[in-house]
Parts: sequence; C-alpha cells; structure tokens
Amino acid sequence: MVDSTIWDIGYLLSAALFIIGIKRLSSPKTAPQGNRLGAYGMFLAVLVTMAKMFSEGILGLELIISGLIIGGLIGIFMATRVEMTEMPELVALFNGFGGAASALVGLSEVMSKINNSDLIPTDNVELYATWIAIGLSALVGWVTLTGSLMAMGKLRGGFYIPFTKKDERGRRKWINFPTWGPPWLNYVKGLILAGCIILISLTIQNPEDIQYIIGLSVISCLLGIILVIPIGGADMPVVVSLLNSMSGIAAAFTGFVIGNNVLIIAGSMVGAAGLILTFIMCKAMNRTLTAVLFKSFGGSSKETVSRTKVGSDPEEVAMVCDGITKCVIIPGYGMAVSQAQHAVKEFADLLEYQGVEVSYGIHPVAGRMPGHMNVLLAEANVPYEQLIEMDDINSELPDTDVAIIIGANDTVNPVARSGEGPLGGMPIIDADKARVVVIIKRSLSVGYAGVDNDLFYEDKTMMLFGDGKKMMNELNSAFKEL
Ligand code: TAP
Repeated sequence: MVDSTIWDIGYLLSAALFIIGIKRLSSPKTAPQGNRLGAYGMFLAVLVTMAKMFSEGILGLELIISGLIIGGLIGIFMATRVEMTEMPELVALFNGFGGAASALVGLSEVMSKINNSDLIPTDNVELYATWIAIGLSALVGWVTLTGSLMAMGKLRGGFYIPFTKKDERGRRKWINFPTWGPPWLNYVKGLILAGCIILISLTIQNPEDIQYIIGLSVISCLLGIILVIPIGGADMPVVVSLLNSMSGIAAAFTGFVIGNNVLIIAGSMVGAAGLILTFIMCKAMNRTLTAVLFKSFGGSSKETVSRTKVGSDPEEVAMVCDGITKCVIIPGYGMAVSQAQHAVKEFADLLEYQGVEVSYGIHPVAGRMPGHMNVLLAEANVPYEQLIEMDDINSELPDTDVAIIIGANDTVNPVARSGEGPLGGMPIIDADKARVVVIIKRSLSVGYAGVDNDLFYEDKTMMLFGDGKKMMNELNSAFKEL
C-alpha cells in the first residue's frame, strides 16, 4: 500500500490546475491556456484516482485500462465529429452524463454499505450527513440526467428513432420535443420535490433498505423531465447552464459521500461557475431564474411569416457601404452555420483599408452557446478590442452609418422591447437605430424563439438573401470592384 500523502499531493496539484485554469478562462486571450490547464488537471485527477484504486486493490488493471480506452475513444469521437453549432447539445449531453455518473457512484456506495452493514455509520451525525449527501447526489444527479436529455432533444428539435424505416427523403422517424407547460404543472413539480424530501428522510430511518433510494432515483428522473418540458425557445441556454451547475453540485455531494476531495473541489467549482453563468444569462435576457423555471414564457409559437420584402443584391450593398465612416457588424447563429467568419473579417479589412471604423456588436446569447461569436471571430483573427458587448455597442449605434447583421435574428428583434411574447423583455442589440441596416440571411423566416421580426420590413433595411458565407464573399467581390 502506497502512503496516502502521495494521493493527496496529486489531488492538490490537480485542484490547483483547475483553479488557475478557471481564472485564465476569464479573458479571451488567456482562455485557450486556461482550457488546457483544466484538461491537464482532470487528466492528473483521473490518473491519481486510478492509481489509488489500483493500489488499494479496488479495481483490476484490465478494468482501469478498458475504462480509460473506452471513455477516451468516446471523447475523441464526439469532440472531433461534433459541429460547432451542435456544441450546446454536446454540453447538455455531457452535463447529463456527469449527473448520472455522480448518482451511480452514490448508488454503488449505498449498495456496498447495505452489503456490509459494518460500513453504515452508527454515529447519528455521521449517518445523517452521509445519507443526506447520498440522497442529494441521487436527486440532483438524476434530475440533471433527464433534464439534460430533454434540453438536448429540444435544442436539436427532436430525436431520430434508430432502426425505424426511412421515408422517401431518407429520414427515419422523428420524436418531437414539444414545449408544454400548463400552470398546474408547477404544483406537480412541488409535489414531486416534497416526495423526494420524504424519501431522503426514509432512507435515513432505514439505511439498510435500498427501495427508498431506488424510488428517489425514479421520481428524480421524472422531476428532471417535467422541469425542462415547459421551457422553450430563447430560455434554453439558461437551462443548459443551470444543468451544468447541477452536474457539478451532484459531483460535490458524491465526493463527500466517497470522501474524495478533488471531486468536492471540482464539483463545487463547476457548480459555482455554472450558477454565475446562469445568472449572467438571466440578466442578459432580463429574466429571473424563477421566471425561466416556472413561468415557461420562453416557449415559442413558431409564427408563420406572411409578409414579403424585396431583396437587395451585393452590388447595391457594396455601393451603400462605399464612403461611410462607421460600420457595426452584428453576428448571429447564421454566421456560425455558414462559417462566414473569415469572409466577414475580409469585409471588415476592406472597409478599414478605406478608413472606416469597424466594430462588432456581440449579444451575450447570440448563436447557440455562451461566447459562440467570440470564439468564431477569434478563429478569424478579429482583434478582441473590436468585439464590443451589447450595452456598449448600443450607445454607438445611433451614430453608425451601416449595421450589417449576419445570421442574427432574435438578438436584434425590436419586438423584445414590447415586453410581450417569447422574446419579451430580452435586451437586444439596437441595430434598428443605425442609419442603414443590412441583413444577411436566407429568407424572412423566424429565429430560434419563433418570432417574426419587424426589422426586416423597415424602409432602411436591405435584405441580402442567401447563405451567409456565399453572400459575404459576393459582397467582398462587389466591394473590390467599386
Ligand atoms: P437566431 O435568432 O437563432 O436566428 C438565426 C438566423 O440565422 C435564422 O433566422 C436563420 O434565418 C439564419 N441562418 C441560418 N442558417 C443560415 C445560413 N447558412 N446563412 C445565413 N443565415 C442563416 O440567432 P441569434 O440572433 O444569434 O439568436 C440566438 C438565439 O438562440 C436566441 O433566441 C437565444 O436565446 C438562443 N440560444 C442561444 C444560446 C446561447 S448560449 N447563445 C443557446 C441556445 C439557444 P434563415 O433561415 O432565413 O437563413
């Protein structure tokens, strides 16, 4: 048996790497390094845990190596295959896996204590503390799993059912994830939560009986589903961030149950960071967390668009941009889908060469994940100083000659100011205050929250219909030919 100090030093080092990593994530410049430090910290924590378990004879070498290979291959496969635009779904899935892993570790701890009753604490304080932590790890872990799977399904719009017959367009059967939230559902949530608390107290009174913890796991799964089913449209990023925080909290409870310090530290950090991000997003969308979770006004009705608007062409837009002094580029989800960031940067360079002041207006929930636009524009070497946050760019837009909106919709939709509907109250980038607005998207269709956008139909708005990257490239060619 190896001296336990060595494991503590290993865990301390990985905790230090997590803390320095998260600190460096706070600036776009140092974020890639922060990300790497966090990954090294996790690698070290996994190595130390495996070595410790092996030295204590808990796991055989075959099991450790096969776990590492299978987990590593799944991670590499998913990380290399996933498109940037599918990242929120992947994050939701990983949150769910994290929650389930914590709950399963807690469950295995219960089973080992039941199989060996000497392990059940005799001291009342210890018994209460351990069983409350086990109960909370199961509650939070299973809610996170089913809630995350629901969130993932909603972000994708649904799931294909494998092995079903393909239709004439080559698509399998599809399950839709509707947004459904009658007001009485809140009472059901309250009742299930009360049921969870009763079951946790029953596990404390009957520590040798597994049925209560199984019952708790089942109703926690149900709670996760009905917590997320009423939430839709624009509020989903807040939910994904909250579930991320919950996966950390579940891990921290499990760390307490199995006495693993690094799990407590990493879990608390994920829990706290996720909660801070959740509140930042709520603020960005002018929602309270309780309103997101219990009012379900993020649900979208997917309005059908019946109005029409004549589109402009790249030559016309290039002429409008010729001789201007100030331009603000507002990117959104469509820029990510079409991978137009390099063409956007080229356009900005062309304008700057003519002495135009160019900046980018970044909405906190533009795209499909926090920081989505920053990551894409950084990839195209756009200087960080040009990425201006919503509040700051809004004060500049009334003095802007041309606002170019590429693939953004909800985040510039003036209907949000009315306080009504799925986007009601969400702060937007005031693109409509610029002298001329150019919108690049493929059609007049609605954005993520499913709401029609009056900005498309304003006289000062020029619609450039087409794929974001293709239209930007055509605009660049037209501008060069002037
Ligand atoms: P959206 O409102 O989602 O609109 C994106 C627009 O891009 C669509 O209207 C679409 O119009 C256009 N588009 C799609 N593919 C395109 C392509 N290849 N070329 C050009 N345009 C294309 O975008 P947004 O303004 O960025 O708002 C983000 C929304 O997502 C918000 O409602 C937000 O709450 C939600 N959300 C955000 C996150 C985070 S954390 N950022 C996570 C989940 C959800 P066409 O079909 O006409 O082209």
